[in-house]
Amino acid sequence: MKDTRARVISNQEVAQDTYLMILECNLPSSVPGQFVMVKIDETSCDPFLRRPIAILRQGDNSIELLYKVRGAGTLELSRKNSGGILSVLGPLGNGFSLSERNGTIIYVAGGTGLPPILALAERIRRGYLIVGARTRADIPLWKRMEGISGIKALAMTEDGSFGRKGMATDALAELTTQDPSPCIIYACGPAGMLKAVSEQARRIRARCQVSLEERMACGFGVCSACTVKTSEGSKRVCVQGPVFEADLVEWGA
Ligand SMILES: Cc1cc2nc3c(=O)[nH]c(=O)nc-3n(C[C@H](O)[C@H](O)[C@H](O)COP(=O)(O)OP(=O)(O)OC[C@H]3O[C@@H](n4cnc5c(N)ncnc54)[C@H](O)[C@@H]3O)c2cc1C
Ligand code: FES
Repeated sequence: MKDTRARVISNQEVAQDTYLMILECNLPSSVPGQFVMVKIDETSCDPFLRRPIAILRQGDNSIELLYKVRGAGTLELSRKNSGGILSVLGPLGNGFSLSERNGTIIYVAGGTGLPPILALAERIRRGYLIVGARTRADIPLWKRMEGISGIKALAMTEDGSFGRKGMATDALAELTTQDPSPCIIYACGPAGMLKAVSEQARRIRARCQVSLEERMACGFGVCSACTVKTSEGSKRVCVQGPVFEADLVEWGA
């Protein structure tokens, strides 16, 4: 983990309220699922303006972030122009397991859960990538996803405005019914979606890893703001996650 200054190379709106930011910065190498804590205003001492964002892609001296504007922090981030300076702490947390070699791979992404899943699909380059969204405008970087060799990208929208009408979990159920051979599922997105994905995985006895997007304050294990319940007791998502085996997580009702 390193705390470093980062210079904005570009910060473009690529879907409704969703920005792709490229930062020039030198971080230790990361695994898909790991994230950075971004301090938007380097000169401010407001600690709450550090926000967790997954690393979408890492180059020799750069990282890519894809983020949706939700509140004050991400709004401020969207206003950064090229040349602007941020402070970036990372890479943080534990990423997805890359050791699974056999079986079908299914990636499931919803909402702000897309970046770590896309990072993983771009790393492994094999399997099905299911992207769920409310509507077409909420799906960024579709051409990039379609273009990943070895990956079949499937879009599901709740209103049917793009891809097929329905939820990401509908596509997951269809895929695993059509092809009942062993599979591994990787997922990130809203808690309700993750819970449903993990129940499906349990039914078909598939290994499933989920990346949790709990609210965070410090990002490196000292404040306990990000604690979740698991069958092995409470865990801090920032240091013991954000990626967990799905069957460990105690999902709320
Ligand atoms: C490990 C990790 C990786 C993440 N990666 C990405 C990413 O790659 N791209 C991306 O767009 N976002 C990502 N997020 C979510 C992102 O951190 C939040 O959207 C951001 O912190 C919101 O900050 P804000 O100041 O804009 O909003 P705030 O003013 O803090 O909150 C605005 C609204 O969003 C809700 N909210 C804020 N954070 C979360 C959260 N984590 N989960 C659910 N609701 C929340 C609040 O309850 C509030 O209603 C990630 C979160 C985690 C923990
Ligand atoms: S955010 Fe502080 S312990 Fe996880």
